[in-house]
Amino acid sequence: DDTKAGVKGLVDSGVTSIPAIFHHRPDTLPQDGDVRSIADDAVVPVIDLAAPREEVVRLVRAAAETGGFFQVINHGVPSSAMAAMLAAVRGFNDEPVETKRPYYTRDTSKTKARFYSNLDLFQSEAACWRDTVFLDMAPEPPTPEELPEKMRGATFEFTGAVMKLAASVFELLSESLGLAGDHLAKMGCGESLKVACNYYPPCPEPHLTLGNTRHTDPTFLTVLLQDGVGGLQVLHDHGGDKVWVDVPPVPDCVIITILRDVIVFVILPYVPFFSMVQLVSNGRLKSVEHRVLASTGTARISVAAFVDVGKGRSVRRFGPIPELVTSPDGGNPPMYRSVTVEEFIGHFYKKGSERRARLD
Ligand code: SIN
Ligand code: FE2
Repeated sequence: DDTKAGVKGLVDSGVTSIPAIFHHRPDTLPQDGDVRSIADDAVVPVIDLAAPREEVVRLVRAAAETGGFFQVINHGVPSSAMAAMLAAVRGFNDEPVETKRPYYTRDTSKTKARFYSNLDLFQSEAACWRDTVFLDMAPEPPTPEELPEKMRGATFEFTGAVMKLAASVFELLSESLGLAGDHLAKMGCGESLKVACNYYPPCPEPHLTLGNTRHTDPTFLTVLLQDGVGGLQVLHDHGGDKVWVDVPPVPDCVIITILRDVIVFVILPYVPFFSMVQLVSNGRLKSVEHRVLASTGTARISVAAFVDVGKGRSVRRFGPIPELVTSPDGGNPPMYRSVTVEEFIGHFYKKGSERRARLD
């Protein structure tokens, strides 16, 4: 029953060393000699969605073909909605264990709002230092009563705006591939929305564990919102060398003062590409590998909105888009076989501590 208090429960109980189940293999942890560089515009470009259309398409194509990760401004998600969403996640996690316990389950058929720590606890090599509230928001939204009380107010406005943003990103991606603007939408890429609200408690031994292990996300698109704490890293190809680069939450932020605590909210969501986009684009658009470091400081909150296929996840097959495979000179053979989203996610959770989506 203790696990139902999550990682935060451990921290609140006053542990000064972390249980062995959280120890990660040394080669997957940050090393003392690692170069710690901070993402600049070349690693994580900032794209103004209000710029002229052709310019936006050009920038999205460049970002998606190289890094697979960018920030957007003028994205239409109100900053008040982002701030409220982060505050709601904090509010839920700060509730007493008795209030959170009823939401504790890994069973997706039970409820549309599930609280747990480490979905892959019994499959992975090591557990991560984070708790999650996972929400199924579309195509069949929960009723407000199905959400934890602290999250009812903020979630619907935030996720509604994220769905609209995702729809425009799919248009931009379609156009950047030279396809009709509605191509990816017609394939069903934007039908469903699942939201992982992550809470990374402060960790007494951050050098032994991770907030999340190295992976690419196994669906079509993620819109990520992070608070001001930091810890997210992306794996960047630096002239043939792969280096972990910090993605700092500083570029443009709203500072909200609540009593005496100053909370900094990042107002630029990041849009990393997902492995499924890499697959259907036949490798033209990349998905970025990323991880989250643990830290001794303050609890970190992030909200990862996964936009994906709705119905038929176990039967609808996705492979490279035919228009992107055949070329007049007969080049460009399909790089990937077709899979269902369910198969793809199944691979993701089978792979132990390095959960790289199996594009190979
Ligand atoms: C994730 O990739 O699972 C979460 C990323 C983050 O917390 O910033
Ligand atoms: Fe991720």
